[in-house]
Amino acid sequence: MNFELTEEQLAVRDAARDFAQTELLPGVIERDENQIYPKEQVKKLGELGFMGMMADPKYNGGGMDSISYVLAMEEISKVDASCSVVMSVNNSLVCWGIEKYGNEEQKEKYLTKLTTGEHIGAFCLSEPEAGSDATSQRTTAIDMGDHYLLNGTKNWITNGGTASTYIVIAQTDADKKHHGINALIVEKGMDGFVVGKKENKLGIRGSDTHSLMFTDVKVPKANRIGEDGFGFKFAMSTLNGGRIGIASQALGIASGAYELALQYSKERKAFGKEISQHQAIQFKLSDMATQIEAARLMCFHAAALKDQGKDYVKAAAMAKLFASKAAMDITVEAVQVHGGYGFVKEYHVERLMRDAKITQIYEGTSEIQKIVIARELLKK
Ligand code: CAA
Repeated sequence: MNFELTEEQLAVRDAARDFAQTELLPGVIERDENQIYPKEQVKKLGELGFMGMMADPKYNGGGMDSISYVLAMEEISKVDASCSVVMSVNNSLVCWGIEKYGNEEQKEKYLTKLTTGEHIGAFCLSEPEAGSDATSQRTTAIDMGDHYLLNGTKNWITNGGTASTYIVIAQTDADKKHHGINALIVEKGMDGFVVGKKENKLGIRGSDTHSLMFTDVKVPKANRIGEDGFGFKFAMSTLNGGRIGIASQALGIASGAYELALQYSKERKAFGKEISQHQAIQFKLSDMATQIEAARLMCFHAAALKDQGKDYVKAAAMAKLFASKAAMDITVEAVQVHGGYGFVKEYHVERLMRDAKITQIYEGTSEIQKIVIARELLKK
């Protein structure tokens, strides 16, 4: 087993780290406070090749491996998890989904623009009454011959307002249950498609989360991904990889909070010495660093399995389950290390604590990850 990163992987990590420090850090508090989408920053991420990292260069992708993706996600998330969720959804769910299961025409038309960040993608599965229970889709895509007639509402859609390309999961034949579901590529501007209210969130406040409404939207048959009835499998399979992205986001939030706590503990003095010299703080730092090390290895493991073409369903769910819990625990402790300063915005850790929570909710709650893991364990 080789734990050494390659020169290319290290270069990706350094480029992401540099970008986060120079482009993301300066405005991150204001964007969080005022719910400002990082438009310019996302554009630059596209120019750097971070919006379609793993896609084939023939579709303008970066042709990088999933380990590089984990590294970049960690660095961006350390500083701005609102920006990294935009990147994660675009890379893992939209670009990967279209590249893996779309046809050549769809790849040419959509993927080539998503990989560069010229277009942003959204993945639309959740509904007011179908979150964890994803088979209970109420959005319908009725087969009209040459097109589908799409009706329904989607909720909590990341990139909901800023995206141009939406992958919408909808029920075509309820009698067939999950085998009657389709995944359709919907373009912003199609008649009957309306972007609904923007959510005012606890964390990742710079990201753009909306409800979406579809009323008699005519979606050409050519925009269906895969065979008729493949939509649920498509969603599940795409989310498996998405979980590596969110695990890496959680890892970044955790390591960002840890680094701030470490630095602060060496500067702040109490009872006549730096607080890092008190065992109470040392225990916290040791616990944080240990959890981060484990989370990072779990992310790498899932990513390596994916790159090797092996089954990564369990590894990805475990990485997300563990890393998101670590992010929550570590950010709470980082606030504690900072004392009263941790409770105010200038010190960044309160934001990281708020951002951490969503990693235990989206792309499958922690409870869903346990279901996925248990199924894989029992299968064997
Ligand atoms: N990978 C591949 N296929 C899978 C799968 C997986 N992880 N899990 C299930 N499937 C397949 C099954 O094999 C089955 O297919 P067949 O019938 O052909 O064999 C089919 O899907 C149905 O499986 P189940 O009967 O097991 O389905 P279920 O109704 O019991 O639900 C579930 C399974 C795991 C709970 C699933 O509903 C789930 O993952 N829910 C969570 C949904 C989720 O993650 N939502 C996040 C929204 S997206 C988001 O957050 C993006 C964003 O904006 C950040």
